[in-house]
Order: sequence, then structure tokens, then C-alpha cells
Amino acid sequence: IEDRAFQFGDGAYEVCQVRQGALIDATRHLERLERSLAAIRIAPPLARAALLYVLCEVAARNRVRDGLVYVQVSRGAAPRDFPFPADVAPGIVVTARAIDPAVNEARARAGVTVVTLPNQRWARPDIKSLQLLPNVLAKQAAREAGAFEAWLVDSNGYVLEGASSNAWIVSEGGALVSRRADQAILRGVTRATLIDLAADRSLAFEERAFSVDEARRAPEAFLSSATMIALPIVAIDGHSVGAGKPGPIVAALRAHFHRLAERTPC
Ligand code: PDD
Repeated sequence: IEDRAFQFGDGAYEVCQVRQGALIDATRHLERLERSLAAIRIAPPLARAALLYVLCEVAARNRVRDGLVYVQVSRGAAPRDFPFPADVAPGIVVTARAIDPAVNEARARAGVTVVTLPNQRWARPDIKSLQLLPNVLAKQAAREAGAFEAWLVDSNGYVLEGASSNAWIVSEGGALVSRRADQAILRGVTRATLIDLAADRSLAFEERAFSVDEARRAPEAFLSSATMIALPIVAIDGHSVGAGKPGPIVAALRAHFHRLAERTPC
């Protein structure tokens, strides 16, 4: 109970997809974990190669061929006091969970819905912090509204990101649009690989803010995360997006994603 993850949410985490017995985009996830830990001044508990080995072992020993591995690093265990404790080793927990790929395939075929909510988070969502209370409350509000995800909106009406995913639209001209990854959102690993994929497939990509209004009028909208990859959004706040069914661009991104993503067989 004295672990600071319990007491203060004092730590950072990562979620990495496991697909057909391989970790997906592990290098980018481990790089981001290192950046999150550096930002909150926790020394990495393991070198990157050693942590990669542990993630693979946890997936393999739990016989998770499709699903995710979760890793959280806390500042460590010490009697509860706000400042950093002296001479405490970081705590690390790694778990693996199987997820039936058919569940996401069904979601991708049907599309999902989102509701928009005001952003109530701290100023550094680029750090993948263990403190997720605003995200929990936003996701619950979405569930209670019958939606799959909550899109968090800034005070000017621009979409930041989802409660646990990045937000995208396809512009009238057919370009992929995603907000700039500054300190106000998490720089998604899936987002980065989707940007590579857009370049690979000669799809235009615009890194710029988009409003809720523009998203409602967009031909396609979608969300991205390590476990969902790219999921089509068919309604925003009850308004249909495009034809109200999944569009061709997000389907193509889903179909080609794993050709380009990094695979680390376990
Ligand atoms: N969430 N934005 C937020 C707030 C997130 O929590 C996540 C991921 C993303 C997408 O990032 P990535 O593509 O690297 O998964 C964006 C994970 C999956 C989670 O907390 O379960």
C-alpha cells in the first residue's frame, strides 16, 4: 500500500499490442516510456533491451498471442509523504491480457460512436501518467451516453484527443487530419505509425487542429490506439459522420497497418 502508484499515481505506464505472438511497435512504446519517466524524474528500472525481454516473457508465459502487455513504473514504495523519497528503487509491474481480435474486427465493421466533453485534465497529457481520473470520468460519461469514446475538447471548440485514444478526421479534400502532438495530448504510437503509413500510401496528411463542427461535417472520422489500431467513428454527439457507416480510408489504414508496424516476435 505504500507504493506511490497507489498513493499518488506517481508513475507512468505503457500499453503495447500483442499480435500473433509479437509485440507491435515496441521500440516506440519503450522510447515513450523513457520520455514519460524522464519528465517526472524516475530513473528507468531496466535498460530498454531488458524491459523488452520482460514484456515478451510475460506475454509468452501467459500464452497471450493476441492482446496486450501493460507495464507500469512507479517511483517506488516509501511512507506516504509528497516529496520524492530518498534512495527508493522504482516499482515495476508487467501484466499481459488476451483479447479476442474478433471483438475489434466487429467494432471496425460496425463503427463506433463518440460524445464530446470539455477537457478537464492537467497541462501535461503528453506524459503517460498513471493519474487517469479525468479520463475515467470522461469514459464513464461516454458509456452512460451510449457512446464508445469521449472526445475531449478545448475551450475554443477544438478536439484534443479521446479519453484513451487519438482523434482523427478525413478532410473534405481526402487528407488525414490529426492535431499537433504538443504537451496537450499524448503523442500516440499508433498515430505515429499511421502517419508513416499515410506517407507510404501517398495519402495527404495535415497536422492541424480541427473543431467539433468540422469533425461532424467530415467524410470520415476515426480514433487510434495500440489496442484498437484505427476504428471508424460513425456518429459524434448523435450526428452521423459521412454516410453514417465506416468509410474506405480508415478501412485501408486498418488493412495495411501491420505491414508497416514494427514486429518483435516473442
Ligand atoms: N491509451 N491518448 C490517450 C489519452 C491514451 O490513453 C492513448 C492510449 C492514446 C493512444 O496512444 P497509443 O497509440 O500509443 O496507444 C492517446 C492506452 C491504450 C490505454 O491507456 O489503455
